[in-house]
Formats: sequence, C-alpha cells, structure tokens
Amino acid sequence: MNRKTFLIKSGLGLSGVLVGGSYFVNSCSKPDHDMDTMTGEPVSVTEGGFVNNLPAIPTAAADFKLTPGGITANIPGFGSTTGLGYSSAAFLGPVIKIRNGETFSHSFQNNLDEATNIHWHGVKVPANMDGHPETMLPQGATFAYTFPIQQRAGTSWYHPHVHGTTGKQVFKGLAGFFIVEDDEESALNLPSGDRELLLVLQDKRITGGSITYNPTMEEQMVGYMGAYVLVNGAYAPVSTIDSAKYRVRILNGSNARIYNLALSGGQPISVIGNDGGLLARPVSATTVMLAPGERVDLLLDFSGMDVNQETFLVSKTFEGGVAQGKQEFKILKFLVDQKVTDSFALPGVLSAIEVLNEGSSSKTRTFDVSNQGMGSGQNHSGGMMSHTINGKSYEGSRIDESVNIGAIEIWTFDNTNGLEPHPMHIHGVFFQILDRTGGRNIVNAYERGWKDTVLCLPGEKIRVLIRFDGYAGKFVFHCHNLEHSDTGMMLNYQLA
Ligand code: C2O
Ligand code: CU
Ligand code: CU
Repeated sequence: MNRKTFLIKSGLGLSGVLVGGSYFVNSCSKPDHDMDTMTGEPVSVTEGGFVNNLPAIPTAAADFKLTPGGITANIPGFGSTTGLGYSSAAFLGPVIKIRNGETFSHSFQNNLDEATNIHWHGVKVPANMDGHPETMLPQGATFAYTFPIQQRAGTSWYHPHVHGTTGKQVFKGLAGFFIVEDDEESALNLPSGDRELLLVLQDKRITGGSITYNPTMEEQMVGYMGAYVLVNGAYAPVSTIDSAKYRVRILNGSNARIYNLALSGGQPISVIGNDGGLLARPVSATTVMLAPGERVDLLLDFSGMDVNQETFLVSKTFEGGVAQGKQEFKILKFLVDQKVTDSFALPGVLSAIEVLNEGSSSKTRTFDVSNQGMGSGQNHSGGMMSHTINGKSYEGSRIDESVNIGAIEIWTFDNTNGLEPHPMHIHGVFFQILDRTGGRNIVNAYERGWKDTVLCLPGEKIRVLIRFDGYAGKFVFHCHNLEHSDTGMMLNYQLA
C-alpha cells in the first residue's frame, strides 16, 4: 500500500507543502507526538457484493417526532448495528416532504446522552431554528421546530450542528432528507413514485457491531472516512429497475469523502438540479463531483437496457483531491428486471433562474481557507488538530462578519495555498458561483443555478455571488468536511 505520511512538526505554526504527491503538514501538534502513528491515507473503499436490496427511506408522517438517540438497527450487509437515529427504527431520519408555502412543524426530544440540535441544510429558516451551534438542546430537552417554507423546490437535508460533535453525531447515523416541492417543478412531471430515487451516500466504519467514530489527529486533518460506502443505510446495494428513465437525487452525507460520480458504462448523465433546486436547463455530464453537503438531481436513462443487464453508480478517480480521489469504486448496482416502454421526454427548459449580476454586489469579502499560519492547536472539541478561516478558529459568540439584509455580496474562498479540499457551505442563503480560478479552473455546468455548498480544491479560488435575502440573526458558514468544521473551520455572520 502506498502510504502518505504526515510530518508533524511542532512550534512552527502551520505551513505545508505538497511534495511528490505526498502530504506534508507542519502542524501545531504536541511536541512528543508519536510520528509512527501519523501515517495515513483515507481509508480505501471495500466493495461489497451488491446483493442487498436498496432500501427506500420512508417519508415522515405528519406527527413524526424527531427523537435523536442511541439505537440498534439493521444495516443490510452488516446486520444488527448500534449507532444513532432520529427514531428508534433506523439510522437515517425519514424523508421530510413539504410544499413551498406550507409550515414545517415537528417536535423534537433529545434522547442522546449529550447535547444536540438540528440544522436544516438548504432550508431558509429563522436563526433560532437553524441549529446554530449556540442553540443547543441538552440531554432530555424538547423543542418545537417550526418554520414556514418560503423557497423553490429542492433537495435539502437535516443533521445535527453541535460544534465539536457534529462529525460524530452525523457519522453515527443522524441525517435525513428534506424535500421541498413546488408548482414549477410539479408542472414538469418528472419521473416520480417508483421512478424516483433518493440516495444518500455515506461511508462508514463499522466494527464489532457498531458504527465507530474515533478520529486520530491525522483523521481530523483529512477527515474521517470509512471503508464501507452505504446508500440509504445499506452496504453495496442493488436497485432493481425498469428499463426506463429515473429521477435520481443524490446527497453526499459523508463526513469527508468526495465522490466523482459516473455510470460504469460511461453513459451520459443528465443533471437537472443541485443544492438549490432545478437548473435552468439539463446539463449533460459523464462525471459529477459531489462533496460532503452537496446534492445533485439527475435524470438517468436506463431505457436502452435489457432485462438482467446491469450498470453501476461508481466513483471515478480524480485529480486535486490530495489524499482523496486515487481509487475508483462501485457504489450501487442498477439491475434491470423489467422491460418497459417509457415515453418520458426531458424538457429542454426546466426552470426560470434569475442570473445575479456581479455589478449589483455591494461588497467583496475574502476568506482564506488554506489554513496557513494557524497558531494554536486548541479547539472546542478538545482535539489537537485545528482548522481555520482567515486564520480564525470558530468562536460561538464572536460575530465575524456583519451583513445587511438584502445585500448582494461577493464572497471569495481562497484555497490557493491550501493543502486540503474544503466544501464551503453558507447557512441561510443560496449563491451563484461566479468563477473558480486555479486548480480545476472551471465552474462545471452542473454547479450553476443556486448552490449552498461549493467544493474548493487545493489551489482553487472561488468567487460566489450571494443574495442575503433571508432572516435576520446569527448564522454560520463553514467547511462541510465535518472534521474540519468540528476543529474550528467555521465562522459566524450576522444578518441585520
Ligand atoms: Cu450541512 Cu452547517 O451544515
Ligand atoms: Cu447548512
Ligand atoms: Cu475543510
């Protein structure tokens, strides 16, 4: 195995260089840290047999109560496993489906033995409902999450947002889809029912009948990854399908792993939407990069396949992922079990998307996400590793940026001198990506439209145009590599 080695030096502040493809980081570690434990590359993926049926995640009943707690539930491929769930029945929370204009209202009770809360990622909610790391719900607490839905259709999700333990709680099973529907989207008559799949991709570490989360310092650096890629909580599943067109929405709910999605035969993929809903027009791609927190909405055409033919959703290798992207692996098998005729034709125009004009921005803010010049190894999680934005580590009560309600601003995420991929996510707003310079040097067509998370690979500088038309209050923005955000890579902005 070709191991990457971390060189940890103390007392030098953080500086790092990429040497010959290896990953050297001078960090603020304990001086006596054992160098031998610092070897590392992301856990490589172990492909399974693709015999477990792909589960459909149930939709939440109107009276569903979110009760995060320790559970034992079945992981197809592993059997009975302990972890965390939003109900006693399953690791993933039910799919919440709601229409624009309706009011979301579900009660919550914390059955964990520690604090938690819920963040509605991609949903515009009042600041006190957003799962800000300071709005914690201690063990035993109850809460009524309620907010009006005032946004276009899209594929969002929910997960805990407790500073320092988000990574652990999500990895152990707390996450769910949050689907907003509206009339514009319904009018398209996209494939639905059995012809619509919601897929959440999450790599897990499962040992001794438990989902285990115990990152080493080096795993806090690269992010915590597991050998087993689960889809909807099942390992190496197979989805039996008709020879038809399917709407397939995919969430990367992994802590740190980036997928470069493709079909194993190289078939073209039509991307019809992403984080903030439908794209203006379908985009054809052969690979789609999906970083933690991001979503894509795809139209997959299996109509040319015959009964018993199969194709796989795979992750291809990619450049620039530093320790990631070196391995190609299969994620999910599609197996045709019925030949049908399908007359669905994808419309050429999906949605009317207003393109924000760079000239209307009133301010540019630049955020150095390269983690250069890091000072101290202290962080809220008590770990040794630290990640920063503009050299600052997260402080719950500190307002880092003040933004006027209604403003349009350009925010720049600068990873030019960085060593790690950072999927940058902003709460409470959607944005449009203006440009990406360095690294891949391109904004992929499927990253157009409205986004809330954007992948910033090492060497890249990304400018996004944000319309701050949400609620007043304090919100966070952060890296969605959950080990990075848990170790400080998050700041507050105040909208007023
Ligand atoms: Cu999905 Cu603040 O995150
Ligand atoms: Cu979010
Ligand atoms: Cu990061």
